[in-house]
Amino acid sequence: MLIVANWKAYVEDLARAKQLLATARRLARNSEHEIVLAPPAPFLGALARPSSASQEKQTSDVAFSAQDISQTTGGAATGEVTAQVFAAAGATYAIVGHSERRAAGDTDEMIAEKLSHALAHGLTPILCIGERERDDDGRYLGFLREEMTRALEGFEPKERAKVIIAYEPLWAIGRSAADAISPDDLVEMALYIRKILAELLPGKTASRTKVLYGGSVEPADVRNLAVQTGVDGFLIGHESADPKAFADIIKLLS
Ligand code: PGA
Repeated sequence: MLIVANWKAYVEDLARAKQLLATARRLARNSEHEIVLAPPAPFLGALARPSSASQEKQTSDVAFSAQDISQTTGGAATGEVTAQVFAAAGATYAIVGHSERRAAGDTDEMIAEKLSHALAHGLTPILCIGERERDDDGRYLGFLREEMTRALEGFEPKERAKVIIAYEPLWAIGRSAADAISPDDLVEMALYIRKILAELLPGKTASRTKVLYGGSVEPADVRNLAVQTGVDGFLIGHESADPKAFADIIKLLS
């Protein structure tokens, strides 16, 4: 599976970041899962670029992702960290459209632009989608379809096929296992997302797109969310910033 550790702003200490990296490397070497770390930007630079050739091999056990990338491509834009800078610093993935960035002002147009910058610089985008709340009439399904379509419609099918989808319902983010989606609902949502992908992608390409789930993935629920639900991995927030919980999650998936 593909496991993306979104450290958000939980990790503010370099020693802790290094400890988490060491844990992730050990887990990656001892499991068949692909682990991607999304540290705060300066820590990504510090962790992903080894200072000596001997460290090169160790760092390649895990991959790195930006938590967000700039809408700009350079120039007079104080404080912005562009896709090109993330790629130069060692990132190979970029989370785009996370609900916490949308809450901070990212619009669908900005998200489409960020996707294009990520693709242009060889970063695999992890596009986050998710409804704010569920309603009995299924309006949230239409909302998801639109969110996905608006993000991807401006791209050629070949580019669309490079995007990973992370389904993260807002009502399940940052809570606990009891508040995460139920396995039955996740089965339905993974199928629904693949149906939309089949409309956006040609032929059999849609079945190759990775679909992740995120929202209160913890040791207590990860197995049930993984077994036969149709997802290809997880985007993990708070529990990825705790070495023990993160290690427990990876072990439970093995
Ligand atoms: P959470 O966050 O695991 O803390 O719910 C997931 C996310 O927002 O990516």
